[in-house]
Amino acid sequence: MIRDVRSKNPVLKILLAIGGWNHGSDNFTRMVATQSNIDASNSMTFIRGNGFDGLDLDWEYPANRGSPPEDKQRFTQLVETLRTKYDNEVLTSGRSRLLLTAAVAAGKSTIESAYEINKIAQHLDFINLMSYDLFSDYNSVTQHNSPLYKSLVPYDAFNVDFVINMWLNRGTSKHKLILGVATYGRSFILRDTIQTGFDAPTNGAWTPGSFTKEKGFLSYYEICSNINNQGWTEGWLDEQQVPYAYTGDQWVGYDNTRSVTIKVRYNQDLKHIFLINQNQILID
Ligand SMILES: *[C@@H]1O[C@H](CO)[C@@H](O)[C@H](O)[C@H]1NC(C)=O
Repeated sequence: MIRDVRSKNPVLKILLAIGGWNHGSDNFTRMVATQSNIDASNSMTFIRGNGFDGLDLDWEYPANRGSPPEDKQRFTQLVETLRTKYDNEVLTSGRSRLLLTAAVAAGKSTIESAYEINKIAQHLDFINLMSYDLFSDYNSVTQHNSPLYKSLVPYDAFNVDFVINMWLNRGTSKHKLILGVATYGRSFILRDTIQTGFDAPTNGAWTPGSFTKEKGFLSYYEICSNINNQGWTEGWLDEQQVPYAYTGDQWVGYDNTRSVTIKVRYNQDLKHIFLINQNQILID
């Protein structure tokens, strides 16, 4: 599989990612508990043996979700240990240096508790910012999960621009920061069918999409189908520069070609790298 992809694009870099939301913190906490538990050689053997170009740490999140506060410093140690070992490997292997990257949180309080940004940013080749899922409280009001800018309603910290600047101001260089864009929306049940915009009262997450089958989520292609075939109404959040759609008591905030184009331009202005998350977006 990796060989097939590489034959089409020889300069492609393919990373092995470990972690994710469902993986949680437990096994990471056990690993970083002592320095000797961090077996960098093992990871190198696996990465080289399977043709990967490096490792993406997707611990969601150090010092969060059952992980003790000291895991913030231990995560830094993990990054430093792997970096040193990977750098040394080059001397004997004569191969190109393994990449070391991390997928990181975009919520302000999680960032503050989880990362010594100035330290990890020196050692990581890229920082994959999960700048989506910024809202998921389905029981209050409609909110967009990945707005570019803040709204007039005071949820100041929960937008892409804020989070990007937080990572930059605390010591990440621009060329390392990768802006994540989701190709799905988060869907709500509206409390009434009169208030259908942003900050409208909600009553839980909407039922799963017919293909993706995950409560509170709709994929971009499911949203397109709702708009094109089911008569959903599209709206645009001017302050936040992102779209939403609704019908009856259903509401979804998502990204489309217009909002992704705006995010790409924002990105180019700041000289970031850009990443599309999950399934492919259809650019027409
Ligand atoms: C954590 O590690 C244990 C022991 O190796 C393993 O059985 C379990 O599947 C791991 N948990 C996750 C979420 O990977």
